[in-house]
Amino acid sequence: MKKILITGGAGYIGSYLSTMLVELGHQVTVIDLLKYSTTSLNHLFKYSNFNFIKGDVKNLNLLKKHVVKNEFIIPLAAYVGAPLCEKNKKDTKKVNLDNIKSIIKMLKKNQKIIYPTTNSGYGIGEKNKFCDENSKLTPISLYGRTKVDAEKEVMKFENAISFRLATIFGYSYRMRTDLIVNNFVLTAVKKNKLSIFEPHFRRNFIHIEDVCNAFIFSINNFKKLRGKVFNLGLSTANITKIQLAKKIQKKKKDLKIKIFKNRKDPDQRDYFVSNKKIEKHGFKATFGLDRGIDELLNIFNNSKVDYKNNY
Ligand SMILES: NC(=O)c1ccc[n+]([C@@H]2O[C@H](COP(=O)([O-])OP(=O)(O)OC[C@H]3O[C@@H](n4cnc5c(N)ncnc54)[C@H](O)[C@@H]3O)[C@@H](O)[C@H]2O)c1
Repeated sequence: MKKILITGGAGYIGSYLSTMLVELGHQVTVIDLLKYSTTSLNHLFKYSNFNFIKGDVKNLNLLKKHVVKNEFIIPLAAYVGAPLCEKNKKDTKKVNLDNIKSIIKMLKKNQKIIYPTTNSGYGIGEKNKFCDENSKLTPISLYGRTKVDAEKEVMKFENAISFRLATIFGYSYRMRTDLIVNNFVLTAVKKNKLSIFEPHFRRNFIHIEDVCNAFIFSINNFKKLRGKVFNLGLSTANITKIQLAKKIQKKKKDLKIKIFKNRKDPDQRDYFVSNKKIEKHGFKATFGLDRGIDELLNIFNNSKVDYKNNY
């Protein structure tokens, strides 16, 4: 049993990860403002190994009180995604970067931190080349820049691991429909039409269950992984936006795909990613994209929840 603090633990990744860790018997503490979902952790309140604190990570006294009590710190609290960060510039820097610096200062040598960043730091990749962990980081948004800078701070600490995550897909207790796979499937179900700009932009994807399994793998194999940065994605899911749309169309035959040739995507990310390093260290993502699309189609077709398209 490990003592684990997760900031932002009520979010898309956090609610799923907290669930898996609590069910494995770890002592999990979550600090979250409950900015979005207020119900994403309800199913965990029955467990004595789950502790929830409703609070702001910018409250450093509160944060410190809990940081010092835990062996593992997983800081997920953040302003996430380029559009949201552009709208909240000051707070983005405070939460995504300054707060991470504060956590690092609070840590004792024997504590451990596992940090998730985005592979959007790779910005615009080179044609026909896979980005690996040594590729140049050229983030093109404030979100990307704060995450890249925070990773640098985290990796100055000896007991640290950083995961550069691919774009996640799949269901979580706090649902995000702005993520491209989730968004395309929801739009396909609701409107039966996908409008795509810059269809050949490349991306790497990963299912949320694989992300959480990788965190658990890193807790169990901390010594082997510490001090290192890893790309984390599904190697069979390095595909373009149009390939993704066509995969969805295969399962929803009447779906119309409209390509806008002269319109720019506000999100200019374009790259393929190599996940060989983490695979060599013993973890491989396996949850397939087709299975994930089936999962999402089932949810959006059957659920009575009115999932808003918040992209
Ligand atoms: N989802 C992805 O595809 C992805 C990819 C790469 C990296 N990440 C990183 O993973 C982390 C979590 O992302 P997510 O997709 O779960 O996002 P999310 O928005 O669903 O979760 C963020 C959580 O943080 C909480 N939060 C925000 N500000 C807070 C504050 N000041 N104090 C306390 N709680 C606060 C929110 O209430 C929310 O529950 C982020 O650091 C993000 O950069 C996510």
